[in-house]
Amino acid sequence: MIVRRSSVELEKLRRSGLLVYQILQDLKAMVAEGVTTHDLEVAAERMIADAGASPAFKGYYSQAAGTKYPFALCTSVNEEVVHGMPSAKRKLKSGDIVSIDTGVLLEGYFGDSAVTVAIGEVNESVKRLLKVTEESLELAIDRTRAGNRLFDVCGTVEKYVTLNGFSIVREFVGHGIGTSLHEEPQVPNYVDRRGENPRLKPGMVLAIEPMVNAGKAETKVLSDKWTAVAKDGSYSAHFEHMVAVTDNGPWVLSRP
Ligand code: MF3
Ligand code: CO
Repeated sequence: MIVRRSSVELEKLRRSGLLVYQILQDLKAMVAEGVTTHDLEVAAERMIADAGASPAFKGYYSQAAGTKYPFALCTSVNEEVVHGMPSAKRKLKSGDIVSIDTGVLLEGYFGDSAVTVAIGEVNESVKRLLKVTEESLELAIDRTRAGNRLFDVCGTVEKYVTLNGFSIVREFVGHGIGTSLHEEPQVPNYVDRRGENPRLKPGMVLAIEPMVNAGKAETKVLSDKWTAVAKDGSYSAHFEHMVAVTDNGPWVLSRP
């Protein structure tokens, strides 16, 4: 069942969304050569606590991993697709890209958003990977309208990314979000004909999160049980927003 949120609930999700936005803005400003992904984690934990919220990812149990995720952030560098773990040993350097993904729980409602940023000088093809991935999210957001169907959103990402010569990661998907971090429906970045194709209705809230590889689509999970990487070692980008379906069109909760 896909929950439809009241306007009061949407305002709560809005506050959670704006908190993750602010955290990501501050972390983006910190990103530089020599900064470690642990530095980002420390800053994020402090910001979340200062806001009276709790980190949504920390302690999140994954069946696949068989463990609880230990951090507030996922920091996925270069060929890491998602769920990269912050580390004091991972110093960012020029030419790297890092996906910063964070979630919060504020007054019973979840926020979840991600951005990928470049450090120093990255080559043109890497710039294009980031641009295409972010644009695919924007196009999908614009399809998140009452009367459209889920596959309109999923198919928009798929089409744009593949037309631009990049690959859609299939093992990880977006999701509904509300009083749980992951709710129905699943939001793949491709049309999954085995899945349902519900009509979108006002009050539904989707976390849309394209994960795009510069090379082949295949991923594998490292021995830490969490870090997913592109099998061929190619760079991977990830952007995420929470989007509410409203009578007045898409409302991106995770940015002003
Ligand atoms: N944005 C990702 C998601 O929504 C991050 C989850 S990390 C986890 O699934 F630790 F919470 F699993
Ligand atoms: Co998410």
